[in-house]
Order: sequence, then structure tokens, then C-alpha cells
Amino acid sequence: MEHLQTQGISLPRLGLGTFRMQGDACRGAVESALGLGYRHIDTAEMYGNEDPIGVALAASGVARKDLHVTTKVWNENLAPDAIRRSFDASLKKLRLDQVDLYLVHWPSKKMNLPAMFETLMQLKEEGRTRAIGVANFNIALLKTVVEEIKAPIACNQIEYHVMLDQTKVKTYLASKSIPLVAYCPLAQGRAASDETLLAIGKKHDASAAQVALKWLLDQDGVAAIPKASRAESQKANLDALKVTLDDTDRKAIAALPKDQRFVSPGFAPAWDV
Ligand SMILES: NC(=O)c1ccc[n+]([C@@H]2O[C@H](COP(=O)([O-])OP(=O)(O)OC[C@H]3O[C@@H](n4cnc5c(N)ncnc54)[C@H](OP(=O)(O)O)[C@@H]3O)[C@@H](O)[C@H]2O)c1
Repeated sequence: MEHLQTQGISLPRLGLGTFRMQGDACRGAVESALGLGYRHIDTAEMYGNEDPIGVALAASGVARKDLHVTTKVWNENLAPDAIRRSFDASLKKLRLDQVDLYLVHWPSKKMNLPAMFETLMQLKEEGRTRAIGVANFNIALLKTVVEEIKAPIACNQIEYHVMLDQTKVKTYLASKSIPLVAYCPLAQGRAASDETLLAIGKKHDASAAQVALKWLLDQDGVAAIPKASRAESQKANLDALKVTLDDTDRKAIAALPKDQRFVSPGFAPAWDV
């Protein structure tokens, strides 16, 4: 598995997303993924599944140093004392002494960026998270964080897939050597039945979902966190790394409509990320 080096951590380029997986089903899915070789697990306090993930991590027998765990603080908890409370609760549920990456899950109009990053930096300095980062930040917010506050963010996690153009934010991130972690990399499963991707897959004896993932993972500085509850899909997503796409394939994927955004919470304005 290839890794991205960022702010002192080594991020496996393919991780397991866990949104909408709960309880025993989540525990089972994470156990299965770890058994298949996944070493990067993405969760969040908002997903309500850190507890079963903690059980799966503890039972897996995988050495802690070989695991990458990302969790996130929800955007109602971005005041310094609230961040600390959220962080402590996450760590306890995950049964860990330290997470690898702690992200701000969504920007909030009420957030005080300098105070927020001061707290996140303290958590990093205390060794409780190895790195900090953001999700769903647009270019204007990224510029404030990176160029004014100079916070050492290890990634921006945003929606990115074959049906959504993210050239502008990707170019900005690349100019600062900050990885883009693609969420909804399968367009919430829609990529699996796209006619263009199916045709490309047929050519390479691969599935449409594998084509969609490999298109992302062929891009410099991009990681992806597909969610898959079934072991066959988890394995297929790992095997996507073996698919080889050619220029004709990339041209056909480039020609797909790229205005399909599937995640946009009602409480936030359009962040244009
Ligand atoms: N930071 C944020 O604000 C944010 C927002 C959204 C998501 N995320 C993260 O990103 C992760 C991924 O996003 P997502 O779960 O919304 O969407 P996704 O990964 O694009 O798609 C997940 C869907 O694709 C299906 N699938 C997985 N592998 C497949 C395969 N090989 N063939 C066919 N279908 C396949 C899954 O089915 P099964 O589950 O039935 O296997 C599931 O229905 C989340 O789980 C979460 O960790 C972060």
C-alpha cells in the first residue's frame, strides 16, 4: 500500500470510510477490513461509531504503529473547551492513547479559527494526536489557515470523485503540498453503475467502482476512503490499486459531467469545496 507523507505522518492512500455504519455491523466491517489489510480507518464523533471501531481495533492484533486512525470534531464543538471534551470522548471510545489525525469536520460560521487551531495544536504538542487537519474547507478558509494562522494541516478531506470537479481546491492544496483526502470516492456507490466506467472496467477486467477509485489514486497527493460494509467490496477496493488505466480511459472519465455534489448539509452555506 502506498502512503502519503504529510506533517510527520504516513497516510495509507486507501482507507476505509465508516459513515452510516453502526454497532456490531460496524465492528464486523472494520474487523474484516483490517483482516484484508486495510490500515487506515476514517471515523468521526458525528458518526456515532467510534466505540465499535475501538473494539475492532483492540481485537485486531494489528500493531498500533501500523494503523492510521482519523477522527473528527463536529462543527458544533469548535470552541476550545468543547474541542477538548470531544477529543477526550473520541479517544476513550476508540480505546487509544493517541489518534493519527484529528480533523475539523465542517467549518462553522461561529468558529474562531485562531482559537480553534491553538487548541488543536496543543493536542498535537501533547502527543494526543499525531497530526491535525480539516475537512470541507474552501480555498478562502484554507488560505487563512495555511497562510495567516500557519497551522500545519496534514490534509483537507473533501468530496471528490469522477462526477465532481475539484481542480481549483486540488491545485491550491498541491501548491502547499497538502494531501486531498477524497470522501465519497464512489459517488456514494453511484460510480458502480456508471456506463462509461463499466465499459472501461470491461476492458481491464475490473469493475466500474475499481475504475473510479484508481482514477483518484492515480492523482498525486490524493488519498481515498471508500466505505464498504461487505468484505467482497472491501477486497475489490483494495484490488483497485492493481488496475492500470490508459490515456483513452482518462479522457473518457474527464468527459463525464463533473457537477454532481452529493454531500451538502442543510446548516451550512455552499462552501464551494
Ligand atoms: N468529512 C466529511 O464531511 C465526510 C462526508 C461524507 C463522507 N465522509 C467519509 O467518506 C467515506 C466514504 O463516503 P461515503 O460512504 O459517503 O460514500 P462512498 O464511499 O463513495 O460510497 C459508499 C457506497 O458504495 C458502496 N460500495 C463500496 N465499495 C463498492 C464496490 N467495490 N462496488 C460497488 N459498490 C461499492 C457501498 O456499499 P456497501 O456499504 O453496501 O458495501 C456504499 O453503498 C464515509 O464513509 C466517511 O468516512 C466524510
